[in-house]
Parts: sequence; structure tokens; C-alpha cells
Amino acid sequence: MKDYVVIGGSASEHLAKNIAKKLQAKYLKTRVKIFPDGERKITVVGQVRKCKIIVVQSTYTPVDSNLVEALSLISKAREMSNEVIAVIPYMGYAKQDKEFLKGEITTISVIAKLFKASGATQLIVVDFHSPKALDFFKVPIKNLSAVSLLAQYFKNLKLKEPLIVSPDMYWRHKAKEFAKYLNATSIALNKQRDRKTGKLIIKSPHLKFSKGRDLVLFDDMISTGGSILKAIEFLKKENFRKIYVACTHPVFVGNSERRIKKSGITKIIGTNSVEGKFSRIDLSDIIVKTILDWKS
Ligand code: R5P
Repeated sequence: MKDYVVIGGSASEHLAKNIAKKLQAKYLKTRVKIFPDGERKITVVGQVRKCKIIVVQSTYTPVDSNLVEALSLISKAREMSNEVIAVIPYMGYAKQDKEFLKGEITTISVIAKLFKASGATQLIVVDFHSPKALDFFKVPIKNLSAVSLLAQYFKNLKLKEPLIVSPDMYWRHKAKEFAKYLNATSIALNKQRDRKTGKLIIKSPHLKFSKGRDLVLFDDMISTGGSILKAIEFLKKENFRKIYVACTHPVFVGNSERRIKKSGITKIIGTNSVEGKFSRIDLSDIIVKTILDWKS
């Protein structure tokens, strides 16, 4: 078997260590010093030769700083090896995938170029917001899905007649897939965002559900919590026994956690694409499997 070395960035240390353990790979730590102006001095502790290097670093908040760290780690890894797999479980800017309003920049296309330029030879992402935007990346890329892992967790909860709801049409196929694992039904709401004000409205017809069912709101990411809260308001929480939230990327900015919890939610479950209190589902198994199966 090829020798692997894992470099864990500061945003994905736990996940990186899990990956290293499963691959029986050497783990190189990253040391980050943040200067008063916000700049980072990034150091990879240790040197290696003749191996395949895996750099693990999500780019959630602070997005730009974590992104610079990811690119810097990749570039350092490339000095040590010709094969560098960048594992970016949560890719910031993935929502900026087209010019919605005139003059807006498709920033994810710019970032895609940076990954190649910094030296990544393969890329692994998870539930990337916009599958179409994967085409911007000019290195071989695998977009993994956390749906089965999340669904398995919920299967063990033995929910009552669960209804799986995607707050927008974007994620409807994934909600359907999630529901299938639970032998449950799913719907997707027609959420629209005013591109100028950012205001959300739901344009779906009002549906009636029998009382006492469990509700699972399922989305790719939760950031401000606005989409989830809008969906709860629309579906009327009194109609449900318990309300759960499942997402791949629990970003949770500002006071989103408090706002969501106040709305009567029983549990929030996410993956460790974003490390924090909601990252209950470990992605290391599916990432390791992808690395080992990837014929290069
Ligand atoms: C939108 O297209 C995404 O799939 C999520 O629904 C959205 O990014 C969640 O963000 P927030 O929690 O701020 O509503």
C-alpha cells in the first residue's frame, strides 16, 4: 500500500486525525499564529518524502482565513510530494456559483483556479452546494454524500411517521434519498430569496399533515438558520410531535443556534465537515474509502 501522510489544518484537526488513524498514516500538525491584523503565520510541523499527502481543511468561518490556510498547506505539501489530495469537506463560496445580479462575481470559479494553482492534484469535497460548479475545478474531484450517514443516525432514533422536509427545491433529491432510508415521505418547499434584500419567502401551497408526526428538516448547510426557521413557521410546529434538524454542514453563524433552539427543536445533527457541537457524524470513513478506491 502507498504511504500516506495527513496534514490537518486548524479547521479540521479532529477529522484529519481520524483519517490518519484509519489510513495508519503519519500525521503532521499545523501550527497557526494569528497576527493582530488577522494575518496567519502557518507552519507545518515536520517533513516527509516520497508519499502521498492528504491535506484536510474545511473553509468555514472565518472563511477567507481558512481558505488561505488550506491553499498554503497544499502548496507546502506540494513542495514535499507530487501527489497532494486536498480534502475540503465544507467549501466556502460554493453558493456563489453564478452571476445572479449583474456585476456579481462567480467567486467559486476564482477559488477553483486557486486550488489547482496551489498544487492540489486531487480534490475531495462533501455535499458541495452546487454540483454544476464542480466543473470550475480543473483537478480530478470527488463530491461525496453524507446523506446515508445522517439517515442512519435518524433511523436509530425510531421516529414517529417522520416527514422529511427540504427547506428549498435545491435539496429535494437529497431529502427524497434521506426519506427512502427511513421508509418515510419527503417534501421540498419552494423557498425564494430576494436577491437584493436577502428576504426569504416560501411560495409553496399550504399542505395538511396529520398531527403528532415527527418532522426532520434536512438541508445541505445551516448558516444563519433563516431557512430552517422560515420552514418551521410555514409548517406550523404545533402540528408535529418533535422537530429535528439534520444537515451536512453545521456552519451556525452569530446567534443562529439560540434562534433555532428557541423555536422548539429537539435535536440538531450535522457532520464534522464543520467542527463544533453539532458535528456528531464523522466523515472519515467515507473519505478514507474514497482515497483508497481512487485509481490515479
Ligand atoms: C441555500 O440554498 C442552502 O441550501 C441553505 O438552505 C442555506 O444556505 C441555509 O442558510 P441559512 O441558514 O442562512 O438560511
